[in-house]
Amino acid sequence: MGHVTDMAGARGVWNVAAMAEKYGPLFKLQLMGSVLVVLSDPQTISRVARKTGPGPYMSKPNEVYKPLEKALTPSLPSILTAADGPYWKAVRQAAAPCFSISNLKNVMPLVLQLTKRVADRMQAAAAAAATDANNSSSAVGGLFDVSDAAKRITSDVMGHMLLGEDLQGTLWRPSEYLDLFYPVLRAQGELINNPLHLWQVWRPDVRLQKRCLAKHNAIMDGKMDRLMAHPPPDYTIAAHLLQARVNGQPLNCNQLKTEVAAFMAAGFETTSRYP
Ligand code: HEM
Repeated sequence: MGHVTDMAGARGVWNVAAMAEKYGPLFKLQLMGSVLVVLSDPQTISRVARKTGPGPYMSKPNEVYKPLEKALTPSLPSILTAADGPYWKAVRQAAAPCFSISNLKNVMPLVLQLTKRVADRMQAAAAAAATDANNSSSAVGGLFDVSDAAKRITSDVMGHMLLGEDLQGTLWRPSEYLDLFYPVLRAQGELINNPLHLWQVWRPDVRLQKRCLAKHNAIMDGKMDRLMAHPPPDYTIAAHLLQARVNGQPLNCNQLKTEVAAFMAAGFETTSRYP
């Protein structure tokens, strides 16, 4: 087994980080019959392997994200999970302008507006809690879920940037899409750690995630049909993805769905926190 047990599960990445602290930026692990060399110093990495130019070429590793493909039907590669071939390149080139400084500057007023909306709600919750405490003989105080609020800001920003859609998370309106999306993200996180995660059907949380994944897939199908019929505003990632050409062909509906879901998950996972 070697270091398999150190690397499996949610703590895997932390265990490897702890080993890098202990053993330095270059060490090796034994995984069953394979040897894994861990190199964690960015400067050294650029010396031993490069993505472009002369020298040894290091291809994009897609093993880690590959299990994410199981979250949608049909299972297709996305920018996140595809190896660096023509498909990945076409999608990457199409989406890159969305991350230009000028495009990001465009989205800043929205981020500020959403943040202010959440701050106002927080203030109102604090004021209500203070009134409660004054009116009651026992001090009750109030709770405001900051993690939930952060995830609402993230999903609203992503909704606009990705699809030009107001997901209304920061309005705290009921949203089927958001209710589904959190178990979907949870399932994706688990799949990275354990590609067999969705096979554990005896677990109630896995059964819930499977139901949410199926519903999410259906909702995304509907969204993609609408996107193809009525392209979203030019600044959106979806509009750019519609311009991608792979061997001269645009992405089909399932490829578009896979990419939109990959961007939503990658953007959400890095900028928010979900339970
Ligand atoms: C602070 C925020 C973010 C951080 C720290 C971050 C970090 C990263 C890193 C380190 C990778 C490379 C992953 C790897 O190959 O192992 C990556 C890839 C990616 N990220 Fe982010 N990211 C952030 C925000 C976002 C957002 C907001 C989006 C979408 C709107 C996004 C979409 C993607 C996509 C699609 C890829 C795959 C790119 C490819 O393989 O060509 N990320 N990100």
